[in-house]
Amino acid sequence: MRVGDTHYRSIWFDEATSEVKIIDQRWLPHEFRVVSLKTREEYAAAIRDMWVRGAPLIGATAAYGVADQMKRDPSDTSLDETWKVLHETRPTAVNLRWALDDMRSVLSQLPPEKRAEAAFRRAAEICDEDVENNRMIGVHGLEIVREIAKNKAPGEPVRILTHCNAGWLATVDWGTATSPMYHAMEAGIPIHVWVDETRPRNQGALLTSWEMAGHGVPHSLIVDNAGGHLMQHGQVDVVIVGTDRTTAAGDVCNKIGTYLKALAAKDNGVPFYVALPSPTVDWTVTDGLRDIPIEERDGSEVTHVQGKLEDGTITQVQISPDATPGHNPAFDVTPARLVTGLITERGICEASMEGLAGLFPKQGVAEPAE
Ligand code: MRU
Repeated sequence: MRVGDTHYRSIWFDEATSEVKIIDQRWLPHEFRVVSLKTREEYAAAIRDMWVRGAPLIGATAAYGVADQMKRDPSDTSLDETWKVLHETRPTAVNLRWALDDMRSVLSQLPPEKRAEAAFRRAAEICDEDVENNRMIGVHGLEIVREIAKNKAPGEPVRILTHCNAGWLATVDWGTATSPMYHAMEAGIPIHVWVDETRPRNQGALLTSWEMAGHGVPHSLIVDNAGGHLMQHGQVDVVIVGTDRTTAAGDVCNKIGTYLKALAAKDNGVPFYVALPSPTVDWTVTDGLRDIPIEERDGSEVTHVQGKLEDGTITQVQISPDATPGHNPAFDVTPARLVTGLITERGICEASMEGLAGLFPKQGVAEPAE
């Protein structure tokens, strides 16, 4: 998507320098910084410390991390060790495991001397597939927005609430939850996006707002606790969020606070959609509450917030007493029964085993674990 007049992806291979580049998201919206990733440790740090974040993008970054390592050491040991080091960085988004498994299965069939080239090719394909998946999510999701718009007065916007950043910065391009919004804008359908700030790390306030502003999408930043009130007063037409891992039965694990939005949506009869490319489905699990590991991040993300001072310095400030520890589960699970539908690259389906299997019949849904 656009940054100023330039089209960017969130990760790319720079032919001129033969380096993999990312947008370092820690400094947005105040500074736009592009950095190169060079070592396996840098790739791991970039994912763990959230220079890049969002389920599809951490998968793409891990794929390039494997490729870069194959340049240095294409041995089986190096491939296995890289899978392990990168897999340990963040536990919840299944796209990470998906991308690492994909890379390993392609590369392990090749002799070591052929691995580096094949790895860069496959990493680039994973990125291109993500872009196309997300574009198609927008094509399908647009129909939901179009239907709602039919009941509006001319010029009256469809009001969409979203949580966290499931935008182009969280993917390689387009975003998942945001793709229908960008497609609606292109189709000339007026929309207004309610952007949850998304404590503790404020991905909504920092990243989604920046994306919306950059593309001229009408939006307002709201505190996380405002969504229920807006729904009670008829000011939200639809909720669209992303997901880090969706079970084969349609439970959805996304940024902490998503579950509360789904409860409020249910209580107020507001449709609650989840947008996802298929690598975000974990076909091996069926019970989100039992089977999805929830990342626990450092408590300092709760006790401190980052912002920009008047002199332009970006810094952290403490907001709670010295003696108060933070507790920081980073994701929660929204049971399938609260989800109106899943928007995938193949179309929209019910959040259920039957719904997903209807769109992805070859995946073979897992038997429930004992
Ligand atoms: O902790 P983050 O910022 O990586 O969490 C991101 C989210 O929760 C997104 O909603 C999810 O990854 C879907 S991204 C298309």
